[in-house]
Amino acid sequence: MDFTQKIERVFRTVSNIHVANVEDIMLQLSPTFQDVEKYLVKPQDLEYGRNVLFKNEGIEILLIFLPHFSKTLVHDHGFSSGWIYVVEGSVLNLLYAKGKDDVKYERNEYYQKGELFSVKGDTTHAMYNPSLSATVTLHIYSPPLGTGQVYKPHE
Ligand SMILES: [Fe+2]
Repeated sequence: MDFTQKIERVFRTVSNIHVANVEDIMLQLSPTFQDVEKYLVKPQDLEYGRNVLFKNEGIEILLIFLPHFSKTLVHDHGFSSGWIYVVEGSVLNLLYAKGKDDVKYERNEYYQKGELFSVKGDTTHAMYNPSLSATVTLHIYSPPLGTGQVYKPHE
């Protein structure tokens, strides 16, 4: 079955995403690189490629392609919670603390293929591919993204 058909099938039966069942949902989806390969989008104006695979009133699913040594902008997620599954490669999740007028780098977490991590609305982060090979991540957000902000970290 095609991966987007699989997503439609899984989410037809899920009306509301809770922290507790995202792991089950990811397991049901258990995307491999081959499943998502044809949906990968090359970077255009940003360092990474971004493709919305599914969106309804409650959920948004994104596929992110981070080429070697590329990173996302520093951002938060507005009112959305997100769950990020590493489909291929590895990623450094760079975490920032919000100050009065800027953000400051705080720490990082390292995730590899098959691992899942989460972000809350006010989590301010960037994702960085520290390796020579491609990184692909699948993101589930609830509610859909909309009110997040981008930050320029203080160097
Ligand atoms: Fe994010």
